[in-house]
Amino acid sequence: MDRVLITGGAGFIGSYLVRAFIEKHPEDIVLNVDKLTYAADLHRLSKVENHPNYRFIQADIASYDDMQGIIDDFAPTLIINVAAESHVDKSIDCISPFLHTNIHGVTNLLNCIADKKDVHFVQVSTDEVYGPNHNNIPFVETDARRPQNPYAATKASAEMIVESFSNTYGIKTTITRGCNTYGTDQHCEKLIPKMIALAKANQSLPIYGDGKQTREWLSVHDHVKAIAFLAKNRQVGTYNIGSGIIRTNMEVVSCILDLCKLSSSGIVHMEDRLGHDRAYGINSQKLRNLGWSSDREFEAELKRIVSIMGA
Ligand SMILES: NC(=O)c1ccc[n+]([C@@H]2O[C@H](COP(=O)([O-])OP(=O)(O)OC[C@H]3O[C@@H](n4cnc5c(N)ncnc54)[C@H](O)[C@@H]3O)[C@@H](O)[C@H]2O)c1
Repeated sequence: MDRVLITGGAGFIGSYLVRAFIEKHPEDIVLNVDKLTYAADLHRLSKVENHPNYRFIQADIASYDDMQGIIDDFAPTLIINVAAESHVDKSIDCISPFLHTNIHGVTNLLNCIADKKDVHFVQVSTDEVYGPNHNNIPFVETDARRPQNPYAATKASAEMIVESFSNTYGIKTTITRGCNTYGTDQHCEKLIPKMIALAKANQSLPIYGDGKQTREWLSVHDHVKAIAFLAKNRQVGTYNIGSGIIRTNMEVVSCILDLCKLSSSGIVHMEDRLGHDRAYGINSQKLRNLGWSSDREFEAELKRIVSIMGA
């Protein structure tokens, strides 16, 4: 039985993770700590909000007083830090909230448990810490971090802080590096929900540059299955979480247009994003060797999301 503190549980991935724990680990007590930023939506948790094993506290992971009190009271055996500022475009406009949550917040959580050797800490990170993949050989966990945008730089910094606390204080830690994640209920600032909403409204679909940037696409179901698996098995170390499904942004948007029975004439090419990474791609064999697999098929999932969003 675990007492699981999940931060950022009102966000996209966090809410799936909270629900997965409540459904698949009925012996566990889950505490969701979320600041409720613009990216949060408690409706994502309506199915579990009255569950006896679910609790919620609104708090900022960067507040030492709040988090120390919460951790002392709840006495977690497992902390999964999903909370983050997660949108690359926003990090280019202003890095401050990213420094606050993605670096100070993570450091604060680690400070709160530096003397608690029985707490396992999972840091949910991203494949963006590797930076762009120029030679098409998928990155493995031992490859160097070369983040190229402010969001990725804060996530890479957080990883190094996690590793340093693990080394210095002996905290048991796991770092997960998931690739581009999609699913229903994702914030409308992200590529797939944004494009579906625009297509549904018969508006033009703006694409950065030539749209040939490649991304590896992972269903949120497969992503949270991997995080929960690594956390429950106390797998210390760093793990890529990828599907092997690589698509260009143009392919993704074209698929959405096909599903909405619209022509590609609505696509508008905009000036490319500053510092836009051309390609990502990770090797997830280390995780697959433990028995995890990604089950969801990308185009079938997109079809399901489009139909749920009513396009
Ligand atoms: N979405 C992806 O494609 C993707 C891919 C790989 C990794 N990740 C990582 O997964 C995690 C979750 O991503 P997401 O897309 O679900 O993010 P999201 O933006 O949907 O949700 C983030 C949640 O964190 C909360 N939060 C933000 N700052 C906080 C703070 N200071 N204290 C407490 N709560 C705070 C927000 O209120 C929100 O509920 C992030 O760490 C992100 O780096 C995301």
